Amino acid sequence: MTYTYKLPTELFFGSGAALRTGEKIKELGLDKILLVTDKGVLDAGILGGLEKSLKESGVSYAVFSEVEPEPTIQGVEAGTKMLGEFGARGVVGVGGGSVMDSAKAIAVMGTNSGKIFDYVGFGKVPVQPLPIIAVPTTAGTGSEATFWSVLADKTQGLKLSVGGWNVMPVLAIVDSQLTETLPPGITAATGMDALVHAMESYTSTNCQPIAEGMAFHAMKLIARSLRQAVRHWKDINAREDMIMGSLLAALAFNITRLGNAHALAIPLGIKYHIPHGTVNAILLPWVMEFNLSAAPEKYIEIAKIFGEDVQGLTQMEGAKKSVKAVKDLLRDIGITEGLKKWKVDEAGLPEIAAKAVKSDNVKSNPRKTNEADLIQICINAMDGVKE
Ligand SMILES: [Fe+2]
Repeated sequence: MTYTYKLPTELFFGSGAALRTGEKIKELGLDKILLVTDKGVLDAGILGGLEKSLKESGVSYAVFSEVEPEPTIQGVEAGTKMLGEFGARGVVGVGGGSVMDSAKAIAVMGTNSGKIFDYVGFGKVPVQPLPIIAVPTTAGTGSEATFWSVLADKTQGLKLSVGGWNVMPVLAIVDSQLTETLPPGITAATGMDALVHAMESYTSTNCQPIAEGMAFHAMKLIARSLRQAVRHWKDINAREDMIMGSLLAALAFNITRLGNAHALAIPLGIKYHIPHGTVNAILLPWVMEFNLSAAPEKYIEIAKIFGEDVQGLTQMEGAKKSVKAVKDLLRDIGITEGLKKWKVDEAGLPEIAAKAVKSDNVKSNPRKTNEADLIQICINAMDGVKE
């Protein structure tokens, strides 16, 4: 068997790394950029040090801060207009997944004609986009190290992805200090998104040794630090584990794709307006339970990562402990409610399952899955993990 692992992105990692953004951008030969962000990042006041470094390095910039929580084609067009008027030669996205995905799309439209949705799919962007620099402010999506830009098409109620090797950032600046002001609820939800990325990559039918190593270590970091990051949000060591876990998980799933939790999370999130990390967190134990029989050798390792005692147990008994460990984690970080809380009703599930089953993430799920299975997973996830 042969494997490929490719990474066209320079990763600049560390506490305080964002304070060197200007210098790193200059190294890329850029001196005029569009800074893409959103209101949440502006209000959190975390741009100050980064902007100072741009000024000190002589990088001129315009700020586009109109990114919506679910970025749309209209937002991308407004950002592209500002990019053209300012004459920027690169795009720096500072924010969560929505911001980084918007920055990628704006960079694509900086060099390509037509509309962003002309390029839906993988490898459909014909002209090399402007250089993309991604600076995450949450530890979850991993968009700084993936080749997808995910945008909402509100007219169809769909999320569409534009992707390809040329859509990957040329540089990711990953600085745990930028996540220090994230409130516990967002830390919990985005952290669970990263955990689901790692776990779905590790158990994916496309898993290969390079991705497996990164996904495994991502789970270790998240298992040891997510509780702490939620409870003691200023703990910089926990924050560093979480943002590295999120990055490693992305480096893994970018190659392997994901599984049933993500296949369902996308249509459920759009229809019922459930934040991406939250809906993945709600689904995860039930997807694991469904998948156990297909990969018990993987799930017993997950149980061990979470510190479960599997001594003397059969492989399947040990594997089941991974589900218990994730339920305990969800209770500890305050994600105890199920899909019911978000007004998901059983009558709406066939429509969700019909959309989810078409996802490539179902193809890479370890256990073969049909629409009835997806409906049952959602029914199991209705009440959450309340005791
Ligand atoms: Fe995700």
